[in-house]
Amino acid sequence: MKLSTKHLLGIKDLTTEDIQLILSTATNFKDVLQRPVKKVPSLRDVTIVNLFYENSTRTRFSFELAEKRLSADTLNFAASNSSAAKGETLLDTVNNILSMKVDMVVMRHSASGAPHFLSKHIPAAIINAGDGINEHPTQALLDAFSMIEKFGSLKGLKVAIIGDIMHSRVALSNIYLLKKMGAEIMVAGPPTLIPKYITEALGVRVEYNVKNALQWCDVANVLRIQLERQNQPLFSSLREYNLAYGISRKLLESIGKEITIMHPGPINRGVELDSDVADGPSSIVLNQVENGVAVRMAVLYLLSGT
Ligand code: CP
Repeated sequence: MKLSTKHLLGIKDLTTEDIQLILSTATNFKDVLQRPVKKVPSLRDVTIVNLFYENSTRTRFSFELAEKRLSADTLNFAASNSSAAKGETLLDTVNNILSMKVDMVVMRHSASGAPHFLSKHIPAAIINAGDGINEHPTQALLDAFSMIEKFGSLKGLKVAIIGDIMHSRVALSNIYLLKKMGAEIMVAGPPTLIPKYITEALGVRVEYNVKNALQWCDVANVLRIQLERQNQPLFSSLREYNLAYGISRKLLESIGKEITIMHPGPINRGVELDSDVADGPSSIVLNQVENGVAVRMAVLYLLSGT
């Protein structure tokens, strides 16, 4: 079976069958990753560049490890120590790298739409590793994989996405994916961090009271407050954000039911999530990171054309 698309630019472009194919292929790769020898020869002779124009820990290492587990050759590019710092354009940079016989591009960029622009100008397959405030498709796929691992299915699952929805590519990719797969979605947080008309545009419920959102959901996917994307303050202080919207053990205990806690990372501990929740028995944060490698192996394998 093949994906309906040459690139992975966003979940918006994927069919339900594409998502199912990626998740079932990831299940096979997760089995590989449990073996003493975690490497397969699937992408031998394929060369992949990881082009990171924005900081990353999880996504960058997860892609690099996925490529190594698939026996691909990898190049790692960080804009800060490259000729991009001397003013070289994105397109010149990528064309120069591709002329060295590189086959695939994994790209993170702070500009929304950067991978979409690139896809119109280069022949190689592109995987979006997060573009500005637009999409982070492999994060949504690994989140879905982790929820299915815990609950068996996404159909009818009640997922509350809590926090800075306005600036979150994780929120948008999760909303697209969860809707396609039949989950129920609520976004929750302060009114200044939730886009107006999101219900009309994306068909999700909105809740400004986090306790109400927790009472409703099976899963709380808690998002980072993205101060670096806020030109002006959108809430009074981090301390007050934590008091009004942060997830604490006391708050969870007051709900009186088990809620699975997710977070894409990096966590602002003591702001959106308290440490005893992030590290507690209901948290699957590190399972998400583990599953990211298998999911990225699946995406790379399916888009490689091998
Ligand atoms: N979840 C995520 O994208 O983390 P990084 O920014 O560390 O890659």
